[in-house]
Amino acid sequence: MIGKKMQDALNRQINAELYSGYLYQSMSAYYQSINLPGFANWFWVQMQEETAHSQIIYNHLVDRGGRVHLLPIEEPPFEWPDARQPLEDSYQHEQKVTAMIGNLVNLAIEERDHAANSMLQWFVNEQVEEEKNVSGLVEQLKYAEGAPAGILMLDRELGARVFTPPAILTAGG
Ligand SMILES: [Fe+2]
Ligand SMILES: [Fe+2]
Repeated sequence: MIGKKMQDALNRQINAELYSGYLYQSMSAYYQSINLPGFANWFWVQMQEETAHSQIIYNHLVDRGGRVHLLPIEEPPFEWPDARQPLEDSYQHEQKVTAMIGNLVNLAIEERDHAANSMLQWFVNEQVEEEKNVSGLVEQLKYAEGAPAGILMLDRELGARVFTPPAILTAGG
């Protein structure tokens, strides 16, 4: 059975993951509006990943006799000035999420909740990947600045990304 404090914190993190998904879906729609369908696809896959993240925490609460409480999801930004800004914003956002995960690990340690800590370690590693991927894209886009052909090439590459559900969700058990 999970403790109340940890349960409340994990419910807030479910909300944060769903907000991330909402934010990336909004960015995806923005890229559609400026005719960069590859970037739109990349952010759509990001949204699917964030939904999967919320499911990992959801399953953890269910498995431990906790109660899932879905909270209102804040409205994400809607407009960006150029193709680079959503990526810059995503990088900032992922750094914030990394800090949230760090706080949850600290709480799990305080509460001596080893099961929550173990589940959260998946997120600790995932955030390293998330920050690396998005900061890499920001850098690549800087190279393409002022070179439309470069942006279109990158768009084609990003259009090939497909969502793979994390093994932790498909392993069963
Ligand atoms: Fe996430
Ligand atoms: Fe993320």
